[in-house]
Amino acid sequence: MPNRIEAAFRAAAEAGVGFWAACNRLRLPGTANPFVVGVHEPMGAELALENLAVTGSIPPGLDGLYLKMGANPVGAATRGHDWFLGDGMVHGLAIEAGKALWYRNRWIGSRTAAAALKRPPAPGPRRGGNDTVNTNVVAIGGRIFAVVEAGSFPVELGRTLEAQRYNPFDGTLTGSFSGHPHRDPRTGETHAIAYDGRVWDSVRHVVVAPTGQVVRDVPIPVAHGPCIHDCAFTARFVIVLDLPVTFSFRALLAGYRFPFRWNPRHRARVGLLPRQGDGADILWCDVDPCFVFHVANAYEDADGRVILDVIAYATVFTSIGGGLDEPGRLERWTVDPTTGRVARRVLDPAAQEFPRID
Ligand SMILES: [Fe+2]
Repeated sequence: MPNRIEAAFRAAAEAGVGFWAACNRLRLPGTANPFVVGVHEPMGAELALENLAVTGSIPPGLDGLYLKMGANPVGAATRGHDWFLGDGMVHGLAIEAGKALWYRNRWIGSRTAAAALKRPPAPGPRRGGNDTVNTNVVAIGGRIFAVVEAGSFPVELGRTLEAQRYNPFDGTLTGSFSGHPHRDPRTGETHAIAYDGRVWDSVRHVVVAPTGQVVRDVPIPVAHGPCIHDCAFTARFVIVLDLPVTFSFRALLAGYRFPFRWNPRHRARVGLLPRQGDGADILWCDVDPCFVFHVANAYEDADGRVILDVIAYATVFTSIGGGLDEPGRLERWTVDPTTGRVARRVLDPAAQEFPRID
């Protein structure tokens, strides 16, 4: 019974907060959001182009499908819009035997996108009211999944991008997932650190087997509801970036739809979770406050320290309106489990993002 009472109070409180946020949203700036104009202007149509012209030549051994996705709002961006939000669109380019066979782009059939496009939503189970999937597209278990952090179940896509189905890894995913899962080439397993916009005291280490089903889902205690966009792993550890961007009631009440902001009260730390350990086994190492969206690489040195290459920002989301404060730079972090400290060194101060190793 206490759980039902608590659930009723929570539902009432969320309804009240939602109403307050909706009222305040009317005072926010209009729809010419910087993330939907100029080079960020959404595509307005779904295309199917075949036998594409090739400038130069494609290496004959390069066969496969190149996929990417991002937010591409069907309609005008609404007040309180954020770069992280908007209907997802997946783009595909099929390459075979030196030819570019086709290009297609397709909106993900969330309820809101499908309603705006006047078509049926994609089939399959939903997790809560927000079923937008807009961040990344990955291969797991020989299948193609569109993924997002903190909210919806993944969407499985057919190879030509025409078929879509919400699929929580064959019913084995019970919570949120991540926009940046990573595959371990040694085991074939895919690792993710997942957070949930409505759960502020824990995040989860989720492992998906090579066959595409969740085989591990372990909670990790945290405070304040941190935003954790990416993860990494080494031979021994999964790395948890618990940095000072956390759920913000102030941003939520002000009407912003992505309510995560810089929180100077949040302890900045890097967690080293033994790959088979639980939340009590994690080694937390303090780092000077900063934020990381994306990791380039991680490994262990001969002394058992974890080397982590990241794009680091001095701060992000410090203003109530969100957005970046200054560009990121490439840093090498040395995480020492014996001292519990993280040493940071700048490898390249140039403004950059989306790092990849050669
Ligand atoms: Fe990302």
